Amino acid sequence: MDVFQLILPICGCVRRQSRAGASSLVLGIETSCDDTGAAVLDLNGNILGESLHSQKEVHLKTGGIIPTVAQQLHREHIERVVNEALALSGVSPQQLSAVATTVKPGLALSLGIGLEFSRRFVTQHRKPFIPIHHMEAHALTARMTEQVEFPFLVLLISGGHALLAVARGVDDFLLLGQSLDEAPGDAMDKVARRLSLTKHPLCSPLSGGQALELLAQSGDRTSFSFTTPMGQSLDCNFSFAGLRNQVSLVIEKKEEEEGVAPGSLLSCVNDLAASVQHTVACHLAKRTHRAVVSGGVASNQYIRKALSLITEREGLRLLCPPPKLCTDNGIMIQSVCINPLTDIVLSLLHVDPVLFLRAPLGSDLTAEVRAAAIKVPPVKMRIT
Ligand code: KG4
Ligand code: ZN
Repeated sequence: MDVFQLILPICGCVRRQSRAGASSLVLGIETSCDDTGAAVLDLNGNILGESLHSQKEVHLKTGGIIPTVAQQLHREHIERVVNEALALSGVSPQQLSAVATTVKPGLALSLGIGLEFSRRFVTQHRKPFIPIHHMEAHALTARMTEQVEFPFLVLLISGGHALLAVARGVDDFLLLGQSLDEAPGDAMDKVARRLSLTKHPLCSPLSGGQALELLAQSGDRTSFSFTTPMGQSLDCNFSFAGLRNQVSLVIEKKEEEEGVAPGSLLSCVNDLAASVQHTVACHLAKRTHRAVVSGGVASNQYIRKALSLITEREGLRLLCPPPKLCTDNGIMIQSVCINPLTDIVLSLLHVDPVLFLRAPLGSDLTAEVRAAAIKVPPVKMRIT
């Protein structure tokens, strides 16, 4: 974990120099989960102004995201966040070429606030609207900071997803594998909750994944030995629920041994964090060969090192966006738009009233990948 992430303010904003010659300016809006993000970018990917309001602290207190609470917080902050991004960019609504907003997947109540705001904004200012797929935006984030040509392989690991896909174009993906149960961020958040890490003096403002990464730095990963999931499956899918189960059993045993009530801070918490993180990193690395990584969990430096073992061995390039661009934000939304504005769709701004809007990424090739049963040579996971 780098220091920058630790001191990342709850409400952050940045002003960047406006560059001459940037003709197409896009306002990006992201409200799919628990971050209200907005940013103004030109089509070269230059960030002219951005603003982000994170709800993390509120949800940490309640032990998870309550959709109605998330919705209310988006409602309270969206106007300020958008105005701040515009003001910092020095771009007026009239100067914008389009508004790009996450439409799926995500929490319907959260998405609804971004969509409703965008609908009013584009109607008032008569701007085209670009609907954005949240996972496509994560998948393309690396292209905002690196020169990456299509096609490339994406490992997308976040609080909601674990998937491997070939990105063939801005909206053309082949899905090779995905989590069969929960996402790595979700699993780490649940482990952190089970360990009551919000009570830990160093971890109270951190997400579960961030807390585990921090504690793991002073832990011994060999103290506990967890089985790396899906060792026998020759496909590109992932699984984290079984690992979480293994961890829960160990926590129960340790609580008994230490004679403390469930949910107390264990003395071996650093070692547990290191062992869990190591197993997650090994699982991700073992199922990945060529990777461009994004999503909140991708900001984990240990997981990046594990993946670099694979890419170094295979003579491939591992590209990871800066941690700040990995977690949800208004800038990533425009990674989808860094191409000429010829494909703008003025779509209906409507969200079905389901709790979580699902939207698969690209064409599903997971069955074909499983049938191919590709054997991978073993790699020693000496992550330093
Ligand atoms: O991409 P994101 O902001 O939201 C989703 O689209 O899910 O990812 C949030 C997730 C949370 O589960 C959080 O615990 C995890 O990313 N996360 C991390 C780290 N930073 C955030 N997991 C592991 N290590 C980190 N440094
Ligand atoms: Zn996300």
